Amino acid sequence: MILIKTLILYETTHGATAACAARLAAALGGDTEVWELKRFFGDVSRYDCVVVGAPVYGGAIPKTMKTYCRQNGGALSRKPFAVFFACLSQNEETVRGYLKQNLPKELAACAFACSSFGGAFYFTKLNALERAVDRFIVKSYARANGIPAPDGKSDFVTISDERIAAFAEKIKTKAGANA
Ligand SMILES: Cc1cc2nc3c(=O)[nH]c(=O)nc-3n(C[C@H](O)[C@H](O)[C@H](O)COP(=O)(O)O)c2cc1C
Repeated sequence: MILIKTLILYETTHGATAACAARLAAALGGDTEVWELKRFFGDVSRYDCVVVGAPVYGGAIPKTMKTYCRQNGGALSRKPFAVFFACLSQNEETVRGYLKQNLPKELAACAFACSSFGGAFYFTKLNALERAVDRFIVKSYARANGIPAPDGKSDFVTISDERIAAFAEKIKTKAGANA
């Protein structure tokens, strides 16, 4: 077995990306560290592989993650580098678009894997205003995907273990090829 040191660096607004990061770490096993960006003060060059995870709001990832990727683009692109999004869209072209729109061009081109793991709306934890906005978004998503409209009270989660497992396999394959 090849043991590589993987860093998963994520941002989250409501917790879905944090859940995705934890599930990816479990799927990878081995020597994997998971850090929320604001708590990470380490050096990416110490890792064999770096994975960045972020939520998507109106086509954009959090500004903090954008800035981090811009400022550390050189170091990140020297590593096997992959990106996942916690977002509703799973259309490959749309997800590639999120990558290109939010990361520096050179870094986006380096990503050996890029995937949406699905998203989540934690209605049980939102305030009234957030609930109203999220309910509207979830309803249009349900309509577009031909699924029954969620009630907007219980949590709505589309995070997919299959997608996470497939992404983890890509990382393991890449690590094997680089070993
Ligand atoms: C206001 C709003 C805008 C959103 N915009 C998008 C979008 O442009 N594309 C998408 O695929 N998902 C979109 N989503 C879904 C979020 O990406 C999804 O809920 C994600 O899991 C949030 O992750 P977090 O809990 O880590 O913040 C949107 C959600 C909200 C509430």
